[in-house]
Amino acid sequence: MTDFASLVHAVPDFPKPGIVFRDITPLLANAGAFARCIDALADPWLGQGVQAVCGIESRGFIFGAALAQKLKAGFVPLRKPGKLPPPVTGVDYELEYGSDRLEARAGALRPGERTLIVDDVLATGGTLAAARALVVELGAELAGAAVVIELDALDGRARWDRVTPLHSLLHY
Ligand code: PRP
Ligand code: ADE
Repeated sequence: MTDFASLVHAVPDFPKPGIVFRDITPLLANAGAFARCIDALADPWLGQGVQAVCGIESRGFIFGAALAQKLKAGFVPLRKPGKLPPPVTGVDYELEYGSDRLEARAGALRPGERTLIVDDVLATGGTLAAARALVVELGAELAGAAVVIELDALDGRARWDRVTPLHSLLHY
């Protein structure tokens, strides 16, 4: 049985010199490891009343959709701009260089719906913070966030609040 952590490959200098890219595709290709990863992601959220899972484009869709099935929750994609048809609700956010935007279908979440945000990697935390703002803007109740990988040195967790649960499976 292969530990799913060993199937996250470190790729130096991609996509730019100095970046160690954490490649999840070997993990996804191994049926047992992927299933164990989804089980581990789901574990803290079982019995927590999660009604909706929001996955962040694009790698967050892979883990988010599988997790939604496991938690018997609906799945809502949070997408990069221009991908969803109108009407949409969106939030703009700052990146290290430049800015980006996340959008959801307007009304995609019911008022007070207990919602979990899912992504593959927490790096600087800008994307997860934007997803959080979008879930709040949509009127849902934020249960928390689940990520597969947290890059500790970038301290993305500092952009999350101290009280809302944020669970990570692997730390680098
Ligand atoms: C990556 C990753 C997270 C985000 C984390 O997405 O999947 O969504 O970066 O970075 P941050 O914490 O610094 O905001 P990317 O924009 O590369 O998109 P992709 O999933 O489509 O590859
Ligand atoms: N997203 C942001 N930083 C990343 C990294 N180092 N590896 C994979 N995905 C990322």
